[in-house]
Amino acid sequence: MSAASASGRSVTVRAPAKLNLELTVGPRRPDGYHDLATVFHAVGLHDEVTVEPADDWEVVVTGPYAELVPCGADNLAMRAAHLIAEQATSSGPARITIDKEIPVAGGMAGGSADGAATLLACDLLWEVGLSRGELEELAADLGSDVPFALAGGTAIGSGRGEQLVPVLAPGRYEWVLALSEGGLPTPEVYAECDRLRAGRRVPDPEPSEDLMSALRAGDPRALGAALTNDLQDAAFSLRPELRGLLEVGLDFGALGGIVSGSGPTIAFLTADVEGALDLSVALAASGAAPEVKRATGPAHGVHVVRSPSLRSL
Ligand code: C5P
Repeated sequence: MSAASASGRSVTVRAPAKLNLELTVGPRRPDGYHDLATVFHAVGLHDEVTVEPADDWEVVVTGPYAELVPCGADNLAMRAAHLIAEQATSSGPARITIDKEIPVAGGMAGGSADGAATLLACDLLWEVGLSRGELEELAADLGSDVPFALAGGTAIGSGRGEQLVPVLAPGRYEWVLALSEGGLPTPEVYAECDRLRAGRRVPDPEPSEDLMSALRAGDPRALGAALTNDLQDAAFSLRPELRGLLEVGLDFGALGGIVSGSGPTIAFLTADVEGALDLSVALAASGAAPEVKRATGPAHGVHVVRSPSLRSL
């Protein structure tokens, strides 16, 4: 244990992964982004971020995906720490340790979760005292999915995904996640989506009423039928084997399945915990996916695990 942890000067915050239950992509904007109508849904896979004073700025990643995470200045957690340091009267270099459970470049916003967790952790470490609104603004500067990692639950996202409205969604949903080897870079998937739609008129994105009524009813069958993702064809175009993986999960009895965000993770919805266990065993045994996980949603947004001064959002 480092001297900082031993003296209690460390803060640990957890942040959830997300799925997009719906992802409707509008035309490419002049700034390169796309306006979205999306429904974010946080699920119980978490990264845990610990920040503590150190001699130099450093990001350390632990867990099974550690070697896949870039730890340089572009790392979202490092950028988040610098954003908070700019607001602090007394900060200083920090070591950021990310215990990573969320797949890397998997379409589940793992990097955004790390950014969101680090914003809150550094705010507490340096006793900056930013309001929730101020943290949300910094989150939106960091990336389109970072505000939702702060918020959690189920929420409609618009703009480039950073403008959120919570959704009244009483159900709990059991998901099976089929992971793939190698990530898919989000900008490449959006570019492929543009290429596939070139020459076609792309309407402004609108949330779908079917999905909203399934969520209001808490009905997994209706939700399974209403899952849609405009990036799915682009992900299939870049990684054709994903189409077969989706079919395997549906053949094994999933209520619905969808590429998560920009992929390549595929999320299957099941009726209950038993259904999720059965599907995950069947998928793992079939060898169709190199790794299979289960997760329940919705999950809470960022929350403090350990801090000298406890605070949640
Ligand atoms: O906001 P973030 O940095 O996470 O976005 C990563 C990339 O994903 C962007 O540079 C852009 O290529 C693409 N993107 C997009 N439209 C969005 C969100 C992301 O084109 N609404």
